Amino acid sequence: MCGIVGYVGKELAAPILIESLKRLEYRGYDSAGITVLNESLETYKTVGKIADLELILPERIIAYTGIGHTRWATHGKPETKNAHPHMSSGISLVHNGIIENYLQLKERLIECGYVFESDTDTEVIAHLLNNKMYKGAKKLDLLTAVRETISELEGSYAIAVLCSDEPGCLVFARKDSPLVIGIGDDGYYAASDVTAFLKYTRKVIYVDDHEVGAIRPGSIEIFDPRGNLLAKEMHTVEWDLEAAEKAGYEHFMLKEIHEQPASIQNTFAGKLLELEGTVKMDELYLSPEQIKHLRRATIIACGTSWNAGALGKYLFEKLAGVHTDIETASEFRYASPVLCGEELTIAITQSGETADTLAAVRSSRSYGCRNIAITNVVGSTITRESDSVIYTRAGPEIGVAATKTFTAQLIILYMLAIHMGRVRGVLSAGEAKSLIVNIKRIPGQIQKILNRKESIRECAEQFADKRDYFFIGRYLNFPIALEGALKLKEISYIHAEGYAAGELKHGPLALLTEDTPVVAIATRGHTYDKMLSNIKEVKARNATVIAVANEDDTEIEKYVDVVLRIPPSHEMTSPVLSSVVLQLLAYYTALAKGCSIDKPRNLAKSVTVE
Ligand code: AGP
Repeated sequence: MCGIVGYVGKELAAPILIESLKRLEYRGYDSAGITVLNESLETYKTVGKIADLELILPERIIAYTGIGHTRWATHGKPETKNAHPHMSSGISLVHNGIIENYLQLKERLIECGYVFESDTDTEVIAHLLNNKMYKGAKKLDLLTAVRETISELEGSYAIAVLCSDEPGCLVFARKDSPLVIGIGDDGYYAASDVTAFLKYTRKVIYVDDHEVGAIRPGSIEIFDPRGNLLAKEMHTVEWDLEAAEKAGYEHFMLKEIHEQPASIQNTFAGKLLELEGTVKMDELYLSPEQIKHLRRATIIACGTSWNAGALGKYLFEKLAGVHTDIETASEFRYASPVLCGEELTIAITQSGETADTLAAVRSSRSYGCRNIAITNVVGSTITRESDSVIYTRAGPEIGVAATKTFTAQLIILYMLAIHMGRVRGVLSAGEAKSLIVNIKRIPGQIQKILNRKESIRECAEQFADKRDYFFIGRYLNFPIALEGALKLKEISYIHAEGYAAGELKHGPLALLTEDTPVVAIATRGHTYDKMLSNIKEVKARNATVIAVANEDDTEIEKYVDVVLRIPPSHEMTSPVLSSVVLQLLAYYTALAKGCSIDKPRNLAKSVTVE
């Protein structure tokens, strides 16, 4: 995730900016940069670590105002030209967020004569600001120009801006990206999170959405969208540094589970065209003709990404009418796949570095297949070895157990299936619109689950001492059962198996006793009645049943021991919601058992060896 920092005060800015950027390193980044302002702007930026940035800085920079940035690439590769700050003569700017309408703005600015040096969405903000300040009927001050500029931006942003015509002034604004101001004895700080300046001050003011402000030596002003000066409350941060990195959550995994409303929103931002009933997939280098004539798709992945792919198979077949196989990368690479050229493979890997997935993709490409990569890491190896790359914009995931990257992968798979279904004429505009509306509802629905997580915690604690667990589901909920079992195994060390509910009677029923909790995903849909039959089968063996069901389902509680609820939802999109419930169930079980949640034994975040 990108991180921004800023300083205006009595101390030299550069060392403070570097120290603050180091404190944001835990968020993950691929490049970094700073701009300091004395009489003119001086900018230094590079790919790599903050230590690499320090190497290119002059020994002593005399400047008391500055901004800095750590970049986690979203638009444009990790290259120095794409690192922030971005400039437009006399203006320097850092940004965290995604500008959804940057292409339209970019076209307009190019027509006005602006030359773009980067591939980022951010650079449009710098040029737009320059245009407002210097090219309009009258010259605007920086604060007014920022206010006018943000009114044209769609998407999310936290920005900090300097202008060489206004020495000692830093202007900031936010919408849907975090921004906090630190009030120190020697000056003011701005940052994406408090960890950046906790070393200097614990006194903070939280900037809210649509607010704009200016820091000048000895003063800070924050305005509401109408331009009214606000009297903002100052808070004192009690967290220590480690707690602050986790935004106060006990573990990164819990923080990442809570980030899902935002990570999903970021993943579909700018892509869902509700009115047209289509999905914008500019990254997909497949012509409509190629999509129309697609005979088969092969999804290749490992672990959690495989589980996402298993749901993808159902989506591609149902929504796009494309026959789809799902392959385990470590098996595929040594099997004898029957592939002919012109076929499509889709590799799903959050890290983009999983050795088995890379090897399987290389093998499929040797048959002439075109590959689409779905990954969370810009510039990762898979991106260099694929014909098309679609990014999940989930931000870095630090917990070993994948959570927000899994749900972001699902969102990409929905969008890809809708896009292909529309191009192939399998899905009507009306059906696509209805799905799009339901995808847009997911962030709010997840928030409701998060707000009521205590009931999941109670359930987890009740069964934390069990040795075995089963997870069952049908159709779209079957991959979610597999993922629920994987999450529980990984972090709580409880033996758990995910099963297609209809398969229980073909063997596993023999294992069920009253000491075996069975998690049954029984959300509304065309397999609901069949799930009820499977639940009755399980209850007849005296096993405990924990159901994941919709809020408005009053039938289910007659048959099961515990019900974990998700908001009313569409059959196609409810699996995303159920997976969040199961992430929390695994998390609270592991917490109750005192396990090492963020770094489970024997596991690595990125498996780069065979
Ligand atoms: C998920 O919780 C696991 N840590 C693991 O199964 C993971 O999904 C797998 O190693 C694949 O990783 P990738 O998505 O980075 O390729």
